[in-house]
Amino acid sequence: MSQTKPEPATAGIETEQTSVGSVFVSNYPPYSVWNESAVPDVQNALTDDPSDDATLGLYLHIPFCRKRCKFCYFRVYTDKNSTEIDTYLNALAEEIELYGKQPALDNRPLKFVYFGGGTPSYISVKHLNTLVERIKKVFPWDTAEEVAFECEPGTLTQKKLQAIKGIGVTRLSLGVENLNDKILEENGRAHLSKEVYRIHPWIKELEFDQVNIDLISGMIGETWESWQDTVQKTIELDPDSITVYQLELPFNTVYSKDILGGDALPVADWKLKREWHQYAFEQFTQVGYEQSSAYTVLKKDKPCKFVYRDAVWQGSDMIGTGVASFSHFSGIHFQNAPSWGDYLSTIESGELPIYRAFKPTDDEKLTREMILQLKLGKINPSYFQSKFNADILALYREEFDQLQNEGMLRIHSDQDEIQLTQRGLLQVDGLLPTFYAQEYQNTRYT
Ligand SMILES: C[S@@+](CC[C@H](N)C(=O)[O-])C[C@H]1O[C@@H](n2cnc3c(N)ncnc32)[C@H](O)[C@@H]1O
Ligand code: SF4
Repeated sequence: MSQTKPEPATAGIETEQTSVGSVFVSNYPPYSVWNESAVPDVQNALTDDPSDDATLGLYLHIPFCRKRCKFCYFRVYTDKNSTEIDTYLNALAEEIELYGKQPALDNRPLKFVYFGGGTPSYISVKHLNTLVERIKKVFPWDTAEEVAFECEPGTLTQKKLQAIKGIGVTRLSLGVENLNDKILEENGRAHLSKEVYRIHPWIKELEFDQVNIDLISGMIGETWESWQDTVQKTIELDPDSITVYQLELPFNTVYSKDILGGDALPVADWKLKREWHQYAFEQFTQVGYEQSSAYTVLKKDKPCKFVYRDAVWQGSDMIGTGVASFSHFSGIHFQNAPSWGDYLSTIESGELPIYRAFKPTDDEKLTREMILQLKLGKINPSYFQSKFNADILALYREEFDQLQNEGMLRIHSDQDEIQLTQRGLLQVDGLLPTFYAQEYQNTRYT
């Protein structure tokens, strides 16, 4: 069992202070219990016959950034030169070619593709086109419902945007985070607001199916005034969807290290970050957006969806490629080697770079889907009855009753619905550990 080190993502948020530790729940059981001994289960699943009903997605991790943001917890490198990037992208293509030889993936169409990071828009047009050409030979994605691509505004040029559109990207996601230059600088972002305005007309002109803007509520230096300004300016940019995250400080961020080293960082508490988040969503809904999850609003008058999120939260197969990437395949979780050297050398030896895995029980699969889908704001008990043959209202009676009594959700049994209140939705990640099995509560998350 993992070392005991409770974090909000395994223990819930008890204090109002923003303390160091993961909050965002992206999977279950916690990553800290995944291990090497389950890796053969992945290899067996990959050599099995293809499954005819599961949907399949491909995630590509592009771990490069111009600068490391002081709040960021992703696996990123800011010191790699063009030759090293070349080596990495070559390995990434080889990894995908290795997957192409696995019987369980034979002839399976992709429902979605996700370029995440790091910063996929950091790589050059030439690198991007070479990579995509190779991947499409193994997994063509012309019929995929969504090809999503994350961008840091300062890395985009008109030519690069044209290339991104050219490879079939349908959902362009921009890490805007804030539109106040002082705040962007203080938090170590590589871009300033003028770069957002520089690229905006080019993005409009290219008519992507969906353009998303990411914001963070609670960046260091934020005030009510600056946040209101960022929210208004975001509305003026007219994106199709807006995602608002509340700042969290997992163990590996620059700010977390400062705090653990004794610095008194002026970081907003959870109550204030929720108030900012709520304010933003109220403003967005007043001008024609509607809430589609705890974090995202979508334009009401435009058909928008987020295929990647919905598929992953419904247990879809997803092959995650690149250093430290996470996958879910045939019901098994696994993660790639988390270090640059191990990732590259394993691929060089012709093997998949899988380093830890976990095969959840049926109960754990049910809990995983239920907690992830709760982030959508409502779940339907009948979905779990037909998929898992389980009555979640009976299984989790005590937990649902307790959350209902605390004003976090409402149970509408007659309408086959459990619905989070706005209050519950604004702190949903902190509520989810309530549903964890005892053995996973109060453990280390990652
Ligand atoms: C991989 S980045 C997006 C693309 C690009 N790297 C960028 O930052 O512009 C994913 C998103 O995670 C969010 N994020 C990163 N660190 C965070 C933190 N500590 N708390 C909350 N959100 C965070 C940011 O909103 C960011 O846009
Ligand atoms: S938030 Fe984005 S740009 Fe900043 S370090 Fe993380 S991945 Fe890179």
